[in-house]
Amino acid sequence: MTVDSAELLAEGYTAEFPDADEPILLDANGNEVLTWQENYPFTERMPRAEYDRLKRLLQIELLKLQHWVAETGQRLVILFEGRDAAGKGGTIKRFTEHLDPRGARTVALDKPSEREQGEWYFQRYVRRLPTAGESVLFDRSWYNRAVVEHVMGYCTRAEYDLFMRQAPVFERMLVEDGVLLVKLWFSVSRNEQRTRFVIRQIDPVRQWKLSPNDIRSLDHWDDYTEAKVAMLRSTDTEIAPWTVVKSNDKKRARIEAMRSVLARFDYHDKDLEVVGTPDVRIVGPAATLLE
Ligand code: ADP
Ligand code: MLT
Repeated sequence: MTVDSAELLAEGYTAEFPDADEPILLDANGNEVLTWQENYPFTERMPRAEYDRLKRLLQIELLKLQHWVAETGQRLVILFEGRDAAGKGGTIKRFTEHLDPRGARTVALDKPSEREQGEWYFQRYVRRLPTAGESVLFDRSWYNRAVVEHVMGYCTRAEYDLFMRQAPVFERMLVEDGVLLVKLWFSVSRNEQRTRFVIRQIDPVRQWKLSPNDIRSLDHWDDYTEAKVAMLRSTDTEIAPWTVVKSNDKKRARIEAMRSVLARFDYHDKDLEVVGTPDVRIVGPAATLLE
């Protein structure tokens, strides 16, 4: 399928933009599409005002976390993973909105170049790891091989098998060396993913996000599910566990992802009341939240 045939995806739909962050999709009958409620523990989205208030407070805590990492010379790595349109990019944007760009950066790599294809698979990611005092957020990561590359056939079976064996070993090396490693899996439901693709098709400021891979992934839902389960089986380890974030409500997902990251570190001047306790209905260990 090409992006052109994605035109069909949006046929009959219209969108309204009362909240720039959260377009409302209407079907051919003018009814609001509410796929976000699918398997979701809330029937109302987090209200804008509450979101804005919490986001600001948690962003202040994220700054304290960044400063603590810098002052203590530690290295922080956060992986943002999940299916297409799960909300990785949007969450990273809010994480980094007020961080000091000196010392905090996002890594979003394109498909491997010819030179990179000749390297050890992990090599290009190793090059982007933080040095003392830095925080690095990976918008997709070495887990590409376990999921999109495997499902789309961009790697061989042997390369995939090798990755599944090496990833836990690689991560153990990082953690034993003192790297603070956080692995977040953003979970979106099947119909909500489709809704987000339709919105990407309609909304001019989101069209660039719609890739041919996105459209193809609609036909590969079950393959992605299988790949995700296998990935967790091999890589949800005690020293580098996965944290799942239920992302059908983007605002709630962003807030709880921030809480979850902050809750695990004892940084200087931490406001325990603001950080609170991550909502177990939205964020937690893979075993408790994945369908
Ligand atoms: P996005 O990250 O915006 O969702 P895509 O859906 O187009 O981008 O691609 C998903 C991931 O698959 C990206 O990390 C991209 O680099 C990777 N990818 C795309 N094509 C290939 C390829 N031929 N070989 C390896 N990786 C690829
Ligand atoms: C994704 O998960 O594919 C995107 O990063 C979603 C987003 O940009 O919010």
